[in-house]
Amino acid sequence: MRSENADKFNHDADAPEYDRDVLNESHPIRAGYEDLLKWVAQQVPSNSKVVDLGSGTGNLAMRIESPTKLICVDVSEQMTRIARSKLAGLPCAFVLADLLECFTELPVVDSIVSTYAIHHLAPTEKPILFRNVCDHLRPGGKAVFGDLMFESARAEAAICSEYSSTGRQNLVDDINDEFFWHLDVATDELKRLGFKVRSKRFSELSWGLLAEKPDS
Ligand SMILES: C[S@@+](CC[C@H](N)C(=O)[O-])C[C@H]1O[C@@H](n2cnc3c(N)ncnc32)[C@H](O)[C@@H]1O
Repeated sequence: MRSENADKFNHDADAPEYDRDVLNESHPIRAGYEDLLKWVAQQVPSNSKVVDLGSGTGNLAMRIESPTKLICVDVSEQMTRIARSKLAGLPCAFVLADLLECFTELPVVDSIVSTYAIHHLAPTEKPILFRNVCDHLRPGGKAVFGDLMFESARAEAAICSEYSSTGRQNLVDDINDEFFWHLDVATDELKRLGFKVRSKRFSELSWGLLAEKPDS
């Protein structure tokens, strides 16, 4: 099943400027980008076989220490073209596919990581992704996510109301155009799949989430 908005959120058009744009962390949506990517990469043990979902220009993949294999999944040819050149020399494979459709092409791995991509999936699609992630992790494996999240629907309402009342309606419109995670909902969904879950906040809008699959 292809995700509903794969074409809308394909970043082909953003590819030429993407790596320059993420350096500007003064925008609330990009605040914490560098620290969050570093944290996600640090959760992955060295010598792991890793899948990066929504790998973009390879900024997360390039921070993972000594992977035995890196499988980068993205729907965007142009983002992947840049990733290929930045990751040259690493043991990489590239899968041009949708986040929900890619799993038929993926093996079971040690870790699955993703930054700033899963907020492109609708709320009903995220649990489908989590199920696939669980099925493609070995026992004891880790899923590590860094993304745009609110602690809860209530936190979203409070933060958006603050943005609106301080003249930042454009930011609220941007938030409403995507599907920022609700951390409380995602945590419950991952726990229901048997994961042990830990989270860490990186900015007003970004969180890291570590989900560890039990050994057996
Ligand atoms: C904001 S970028 C993040 C890239 C990178 N992970 C990073 O942290 O810089 C989101 C990426 O997800 C990809 N993407 C969006 N929707 C997707 C989907 N349904 N399937 C696969 N990739 C998708 C986009 O093409 C883009 O490269």
